[in-house]
Amino acid sequence: MQINSNDIRHKFLEFFKTKNHAIIPSASVVPENDPTVLFNTAGMQPLVPYLLGETHPLGKRLANYQKCIRTGDIDDVWDNTHLTFFEMLGNWSLGDYFKAESIAWSYEFLTSKDWLGIDPRKIAVTVFEWDKDAPKDEESAELWRAQGVTNISYLAKEDNWWGPAGLTGPCGPDTEIFYWVWKEEFPTVWSTVGNDDKNWMEIWNNVFMEYIKTAEWTFEKAAQQNVDTGMGLERITRTLTWTPSVYESDVFADIIAEIEKTLWVTYNDDTRKSIRIIADHSRTATMMLSDGIRPSNVDQGYILRRLIRRAVREGYKLGTSWAFMTPIIWKVIEKFEEIYESVKINKLEIITALEKEEKQFSSTLENWLKEFDKLMFGFKIAFERTGQIVDTISWDKAFKLYDTYGFPIEMTVELATEKGLKVDTDGFNDAFKKHQELSRAWAEQKFKWGLADDSEIVTALHSATHLMLAGLRKYLGEHVHQAGSNITAERLRFDFTNDGKVDAEILKKVEDFVNEAISKDILVDLKNMPKDEAKAAWVEGSFWEKYPDTVKVYTFADKEWNVYSKELCGWPHVERTGTIWKFKIQKEEASSSGVRRIKAVLEK
Ligand code: ALA
Repeated sequence: MQINSNDIRHKFLEFFKTKNHAIIPSASVVPENDPTVLFNTAGMQPLVPYLLGETHPLGKRLANYQKCIRTGDIDDVWDNTHLTFFEMLGNWSLGDYFKAESIAWSYEFLTSKDWLGIDPRKIAVTVFEWDKDAPKDEESAELWRAQGVTNISYLAKEDNWWGPAGLTGPCGPDTEIFYWVWKEEFPTVWSTVGNDDKNWMEIWNNVFMEYIKTAEWTFEKAAQQNVDTGMGLERITRTLTWTPSVYESDVFADIIAEIEKTLWVTYNDDTRKSIRIIADHSRTATMMLSDGIRPSNVDQGYILRRLIRRAVREGYKLGTSWAFMTPIIWKVIEKFEEIYESVKINKLEIITALEKEEKQFSSTLENWLKEFDKLMFGFKIAFERTGQIVDTISWDKAFKLYDTYGFPIEMTVELATEKGLKVDTDGFNDAFKKHQELSRAWAEQKFKWGLADDSEIVTALHSATHLMLAGLRKYLGEHVHQAGSNITAERLRFDFTNDGKVDAEILKKVEDFVNEAISKDILVDLKNMPKDEAKAAWVEGSFWEKYPDTVKVYTFADKEWNVYSKELCGWPHVERTGTIWKFKIQKEEASSSGVRRIKAVLEK
């Protein structure tokens, strides 16, 4: 039977046990003692104190598999080799053995029939050339020759030096092992890594960590000579099973099958990119969630949010309009729960957090895409009128998308790139900075009120707007419809059809109507229904033509089923009206002919 990723994991640990290594558990994806990096990017990272000389309780020879996250590769994840999450198999010598044993054991593990048994003719290696900081690594080259490996390239620091993982710390020259990617063909003598032959794939890196990079960017000899090796489990699996990419290997095959099943799509040339992104991001999100990261707007949480949102958007591109992540995440959990305790014990929390983020994002995504389409339509009209092609989204347009609709700039750039457009991100960043300064004052004010973030109050004002419109229709007449709405974290501003001023008495009734609904702590109900059905059921809505065939209808009805409001809408609402503060109309005035405007606020 063909070898799979777990066989390789197992063999690796067993092999190093025979060389007297202790097996240590994988650390969390979040580094424990290094605030300068967001994630563990290599197996050595949790071991830095020991590489610097501290005594490890399990001895001087260690091996493990470590969960790693590298988000620098985020835009490449759909190619054949890059992943945002991967597992690194590694072995370490903490001031114990050095180059000779490290190279001999790597060669033995790869080529011996008892272990991986790969053909030695398909192996090439690279070693450190030399520079002002360290000499040529002729010793490693000799050790390789002693094993019978003659395909050796000498490369400079950018290729054959590894570390430090953060800004300072242990690092050193490395020797990298490559495997020939073709099953039937063999490399010629000219096929070397140094000749930039892309048919070689890096599978293992042995770092000889005998330097410390200092804050002054100098390299000092370390007190002890360490070995740090790393082999990407996904890559070695792909290489040994000769699949076209890691995505067809057992690491991903069943996750991709689950995506096909859940999204009703087939993995082919048209869908490959989106499916790979969903598969990769689902794995990474699961592992982040299992280590306690939650979606947020900063640091690790922000990366997690971006990954989930990007996956959801790729699903959307594949034509999915329903929540689809749960079965895929279950599949990932199933694959990892016997390997990582953190996944097993946090299964339900992982799913709950993911579902919450997916739900929240799906409803905004639709609105975002609509706004973006409007922008594109504007460009098209401008082109038809003036003949000028717009190739860049100006900073103010990008900022409007961000400020009014919460579009992250990355999303604007991504959508723009798909259309062959650029975005003035520098201009955006300047505007963003100014905006942040202004909002700081507002944030301080908000803090006094004990409010988590602006979006909560905007959502509350939005639900209050629905109730207010229903109140206006009840006390003023059925001719009243929405003509415009604008909500900021401070107030709502609502335009509606009506001739002439609204009496203060009526405004008071509307206010009471809204506050009554709030005091009843109504559970807000959301239903998707065909547009025609909603129209026939007298659901309130303006701009029907702008909505898709299936619409979202929000109903505010109390326990006795007294319906306060039933309205078409795409934006999120409060779950219960009891969370809305007291509603107060501040002003009623003319907006334009036949249209009135109300400004209202919520007060604690
Ligand atoms: N720390 C080394 C790497 O990540 C082994 O390649």
